[in-house]
Amino acid sequence: MTRIPHQRREIVEARDPEDLANRAADWIVTQLGGAGHERLAVCLSGGSTPKRLYHRLAIDPWRAALPWDRLNWFWGDERFVPHDDPRSNFAMTKEALLAKVPCPAGAIHKIPVDGGSAAISARLYEFDLQRFYGSSSIDGSRPLFDVMLLGIGSDGHTASLFPGMPAIDEGRKWVVASQPGLDPFVPRITLTLPAIAASRAVVFLVAGADKRDVLSRILAGEDLPAARVAAAVPTLWFVDQAALGG
Ligand code: 6PG
Repeated sequence: MTRIPHQRREIVEARDPEDLANRAADWIVTQLGGAGHERLAVCLSGGSTPKRLYHRLAIDPWRAALPWDRLNWFWGDERFVPHDDPRSNFAMTKEALLAKVPCPAGAIHKIPVDGGSAAISARLYEFDLQRFYGSSSIDGSRPLFDVMLLGIGSDGHTASLFPGMPAIDEGRKWVVASQPGLDPFVPRITLTLPAIAASRAVVFLVAGADKRDVLSRILAGEDLPAARVAAAVPTLWFVDQAALGG
């Protein structure tokens, strides 16, 4: 079996999903809170694990500590469904966080889903990212995202980069259309590995006994999409005891 080396990896052990959400929310405040003038870019993940974290960020003390006027919101992946569809990652994050906090107009960079196809949506989202970044090529010394939040699926996917699908090998584009290996079986739009890696901090949130097996495979360096991310950049993992097998 192919094993891939990982970069520096830090694991924060949490008791359970509630503790994991608290620790991740505290960490986000240390990364993004405080004084400053520069704009900040946060890339949100879909899935059920981060929802608790999003709820935390919408309430004090976390809410009061975040510089809402400087935060810009992006998504790592989206399902090609309307933004008010229950399967939409945007809909989940809006309900859990963005509808409850003071986001300035223009700070929400949702992945467009009205382009006629997932491939067209991917192009449109890439344009938006490049406009925000101010260039169509990534400069290794200037991150695109300040914080990149990711989850893992039981098959080792992250964002909508699924094992064995061509999207995982994309080395040039920032965003591509992809097909899921797991439910919901709707076309996806996903950041590619180079775009994910263009982040100041890459964070995985992993909870639940159903992630135990895949987590140990990823940590062992099995060639799965989430392990490719960990091979490309330093990563921080918030993991609960059930997922760790403790
Ligand atoms: C998606 C995701 C996906 C998710 C993992 C983990 O749109 O489905 O962004 O990559 O993060 O599947 O999801 P859970 O947190 O629900 O296990």
